[in-house]
Amino acid sequence: MKALLLLVVAAPAVLAAEKARIDVSKMPLPVARKVDFTREVYPIFKESCFSCHGPEKQKGKYRMDTREGAFKVTDDYGPAIKAGKSEESAIIHMVCDMIEEMRMPPPSDKPGQSEKLTRDQIGILRAWIDQGAVWPDGPIQEVVKPVTFAGEIQPMFAQACASCHTGAGAKGAFAVDTAESVLKGGTTYGKVVTPGNLAKSSLLTILAGKDEDLPLPEKHKLPPKQLALVEKWISQGAK
Ligand code: HEC
Ligand code: HEC
Repeated sequence: MKALLLLVVAAPAVLAAEKARIDVSKMPLPVARKVDFTREVYPIFKESCFSCHGPEKQKGKYRMDTREGAFKVTDDYGPAIKAGKSEESAIIHMVCDMIEEMRMPPPSDKPGQSEKLTRDQIGILRAWIDQGAVWPDGPIQEVVKPVTFAGEIQPMFAQACASCHTGAGAKGAFAVDTAESVLKGGTTYGKVVTPGNLAKSSLLTILAGKDEDLPLPEKHKLPPKQLALVEKWISQGAK
């Protein structure tokens, strides 16, 4: 009876804790190397968090594109980032889906949006926090990783397009085998890529599934992330 009473009295205080299932052994391990904030951590925040916690929106009154904002002590979940202790940092609990209804980014029914962080990305965040959560002064100089045909585009096209667009028998004489053949274009559309110019690259319309004259439009539609890579590749000069 006494125990029961105690539980009831203590209930409000432990509510937040009860909703959490923090089991450190179930967290992806920190990566075993020195992690660089600008090159590795900031891009994860930017891609997965800033749409809701950046300059435009601050959901949950949390803003993580500035150091002051990112290190907020949350009302209910403790410090968002506790330098030296990733296992006690709320952002890690949230990206590991260990606090009920607080998975970050939150699940979404729109495909390609709000994807869970990978184990490797969580490992990078944990290592950064464990290594002292160093956030350099001043604006972050973003590192733009070049997208190349050999690196990202060719493997993607080999999977999505090569069954119809390879070698001499390529449909519409449009072959995805080399950067040169892609830049050359096909018989009906001619050039579909103008390096450095997104507006003049009709390939983007085709791959967004917005070209109604093309046969098999569903075979030509890429998911948003892959389309974004093709866009980057073209805007960076299609090398
Ligand atoms: C699609 C929008 C969205 C994205 C993307 C998103 N969040 Fe959130 N986040 C929210 C909302 C909404 C809340 C408030 C939820 C609540 O209080 O119930 C929140 C709350 C939080 C809080 C608690 C803040 C506080 O003071 O209570 C933290 C920490 C957080 N998010 C971290 C992250 C991290 C880290 C990422 C990226 C890995 C992320 N979020 C991505 C929508 C988002
Ligand atoms: C299932 C077969 C198929 C797949 C897969 C496919 N396509 Fe096509 N594609 C076609 C056909 C058929 C045409 C029309 C050819 C014609 O006009 O004779 C075409 C036409 C094109 C054209 C216009 C060529 C011209 O005539 O100027 C481009 C560009 C193109 N496809 C790009 C792609 C890309 C990039 C992918 C991969 C994301 C892809 N296609 C996937 C069948 C396919």
